[in-house]
Amino acid sequence: MSNAYQATIETWQADPHAFWLNAAAAVDWIEPPREAFDPNAGIYGRWFADSVVNTCWNAVDRHLPERADQPAVIHDSPVTGSKTVWTYGELARRVNAMAAVLKDFGLGKGDRAIIYMPMIPDAVVAMLACARLGAIHSVVFGGFAARELAARLDDAGPTLIIAASCGIEPTRVVPYEPLISEARRIARAAPPVLYLQRKEGPADLSGDGNHDLGPLYEAAMAEGRTVPCEPVRGTDPLYILYTSGTTGRPKGVVRDNAGYCVALAWSMKNLYGIEPGEVWWTASDVGWVVGHSYIVYGPLLIGATTVVYEGKPVGTPDAGAFWRVIADHKVVSLFTAPTAIRAVKKEDPDGLLPANYDLSSLRALFLAGERADPASIDWAERALKVPVIDHWWQTETGWAICGNPVGLGLLPVKPGSPTKPMPGYDVVILDEAGKELPRGVMGNIAIRLPLPPACLPTLWHDDERFRSAYLEAFPGYYATSDAGLIDDDGYVFIMARTDDVINVAGHRLSTGVMEDVLTSHPAVVECAVIGAEDAIKGQAPVGFVVLRPDASFEGLEAELVAKVRQEVGPVAAFKRVIAVPRLPKTRSGKTLRATIKKITDGESYTMPATIDDPGALTDIEDAIGKPGAAA
Ligand code: COA
Ligand code: AMP
Repeated sequence: MSNAYQATIETWQADPHAFWLNAAAAVDWIEPPREAFDPNAGIYGRWFADSVVNTCWNAVDRHLPERADQPAVIHDSPVTGSKTVWTYGELARRVNAMAAVLKDFGLGKGDRAIIYMPMIPDAVVAMLACARLGAIHSVVFGGFAARELAARLDDAGPTLIIAASCGIEPTRVVPYEPLISEARRIARAAPPVLYLQRKEGPADLSGDGNHDLGPLYEAAMAEGRTVPCEPVRGTDPLYILYTSGTTGRPKGVVRDNAGYCVALAWSMKNLYGIEPGEVWWTASDVGWVVGHSYIVYGPLLIGATTVVYEGKPVGTPDAGAFWRVIADHKVVSLFTAPTAIRAVKKEDPDGLLPANYDLSSLRALFLAGERADPASIDWAERALKVPVIDHWWQTETGWAICGNPVGLGLLPVKPGSPTKPMPGYDVVILDEAGKELPRGVMGNIAIRLPLPPACLPTLWHDDERFRSAYLEAFPGYYATSDAGLIDDDGYVFIMARTDDVINVAGHRLSTGVMEDVLTSHPAVVECAVIGAEDAIKGQAPVGFVVLRPDASFEGLEAELVAKVRQEVGPVAAFKRVIAVPRLPKTRSGKTLRATIKKITDGESYTMPATIDDPGALTDIEDAIGKPGAAA
């Protein structure tokens, strides 16, 4: 047992406010917080409500006296065959220039900017430039289609879109302009778009409202333009990040400036064990929360070097890609999703490729984003010979709820558990009535309010939805929508989502969005999308459709697959449709998705007591050809 972990938790429990005020000393304040927490502000209280800060200052400017010549960002891009290193000095020059251009286009404090960029270092610059201006960025993942982008445009009401001309997937160039133009056509407003042209796929910018960002950015750099960091209140939003909820409408998770700076700086040192000047690599995407927190802000806030990797775990060029990057840049810790390890393991089952690289710099591998299966953890430990650390968190929390704190001293690992709560999180297991369950009993995982710094204070312009989605199920608690248990030693186990969110290759997706697309097809009367088990991606969506009596299934699967790809995006990885005569439902009309999933996965299931027509389950079994053994 790490005494330092126990001592840290006890210090936090004894006086949470003093604990976080102490952690706040890691941040450079314009006006330091006198109070850690104001219980009367916001919906459940606000952290560092009386502080004034600028996050870009903390991520860039404050490091210049000591680290101007130290690499800040390493872009390693096997898909373009390039490697670029920017020092903190270069990053500062670029962020200033980008901020100057954005300001020329009218972006100011409190305004929103959508960023639609692939894994290029300019995406980091664009985010920091918004933060510098006190503007609120909202990064949209490149694998989402026009309709999803339009929903985010409508909700965020941005002044500008900052984009690249294309993304690059291993087998194809993905042009962004047609997609963005389509989203602007569907959305209520069509803000101007600044495109950074990439030579692999330049965009035609002749359309209305399109601008060529490159020359403006280059000119601003050549002129050495600078823009001061705008002081913002600690509780002002740094960004909005949309994530999938139960309904088709994405949730705009709001992130504060001050709490985020404090919690991330604490986590880099104590959870991840990273020191300033070290090279840290998160193999994710800036479009996800993991990318926001640990590609961009976390490492830069502490003066570390971050690797921005534009490639895949396999196929760019092979399953040794991750190990090559670690060796080339002397990475001390890698953070990725279990799906990436499964993909590598499939190609290199005996774990032989790591031996071809000098991995002596590597101290740990961190996994999050979905359940880390013990077999993959075991494979990675044997192949890499470093601790493999599962940790659990959500877009909403912005940093780990549970983890194994390398910086404080590793706790014994229990396979299948992301270990223990981090300070700030009072994790409990509740039954449906909100009563706390004893150790070892599975139930709803909830966090006693208040949530710690960095966690969402609300949803963008939607306090009501924040309350109803997270706080109403269990008054006094934040409902995580994950189910699991806490064992006798205090280890937390995450078993499943309790809502209709699925996790495909570490990407959080709403089955509701896909169902909306399927039912908008004239041949479909109703449908249910579930996340079936998938050996590599963890889950893969499968659509069960009930057709109109006169409709034929002939050719329909391909049509529906194309429609989801077109409207939600390729990242949904929607490839399978099954026609059934009816869907199993409860007597109150709720589709029994969990039971459909069990049948699809070939698991045994109990006949739900509330089922309206048990024959509908037989229909699913027949259609899937893989009957579950009804208990
Ligand atoms: N822009 C455009 N298209 C994208 C995209 C992007 N940014 N990201 C993915 N896609 C496309 C892919 O090209 C693929 O298209 P296809 O159907 O034509 O092949 C589709 O979306 C599905 O992508 P993905 O789920 O990534 O599957 P894959 O088979 O290409 O790769 C893995 C599988 C496991 C290698 C990959 O999913 C991976 O690296 N996952 C790590 C996930 C991760 O980092 N998650 C972050 C949370 S921590
Ligand atoms: P996201 O908001 O995309 O980060 O997804 C959050 C969800 O992913 C969580 O609510 C969990 O369902 C799942 N998740 C994330 N990390 C883990 C983990 N380490 N173990 C199990 N599930 C996880």
